[in-house]
Amino acid sequence: MRRQLVHAVDAAPVSAQIAAGVAEQLPVDDHSVDIVVCFLVLCSVRDVPRALSEIRRVLRPGGRLVLAEHVRGTGLRALAQSAISPLNRHFAGGCRSDRRTVEALDIAGFEIMALEEIAGPGRFSPTAPVVACTATPRLTGQLPATGHEAPGTMLR
Ligand SMILES: C[S@@+](CC[C@H](N)C(=O)[O-])C[C@H]1O[C@@H](n2cnc3c(N)ncnc32)[C@H](O)[C@@H]1O
Repeated sequence: MRRQLVHAVDAAPVSAQIAAGVAEQLPVDDHSVDIVVCFLVLCSVRDVPRALSEIRRVLRPGGRLVLAEHVRGTGLRALAQSAISPLNRHFAGGCRSDRRTVEALDIAGFEIMALEEIAGPGRFSPTAPVVACTATPRLTGQLPATGHEAPGTMLR
């Protein structure tokens, strides 16, 4: 995949850099990024809250997170996704089939600006539905309380 990225960057009409790193520790300065794009990656990161906190850290005020991710469905599909998630994780490089990614965005302090299901459940697939979403960090003081804050904790 990195090889493909190198080719794409070489051919790009604008200058671009590739930086190695993981979502939980982005090698990027605070508030220095206009847009973060996640395409089928939050299903596989080890620590989603930490990754989303990193994305908040690097985004400029008014910056956008644009993502397309498969998420946990509803009803029987959701139960089946949870049942097979450990197996899927084992055989698909850590991919969890039952992540509540949109809910995780809200908890992490993102405001959802647009949300669309781009691949519906259809026939059974553990990696459906797929949603496309644009979100922006909520302004200071607008994080929902999780109930786990220490007394006196300021929500940011
Ligand atoms: C389901 S694959 C999708 C790959 C690619 N986005 C695509 O659409 O073909 C999930 C990807 O997440 C990457 N990944 C797993 N944990 C990660 C982390 N902590 N930080 C960044 N990427 C991670 C894996 O290396 C893998 O390439």
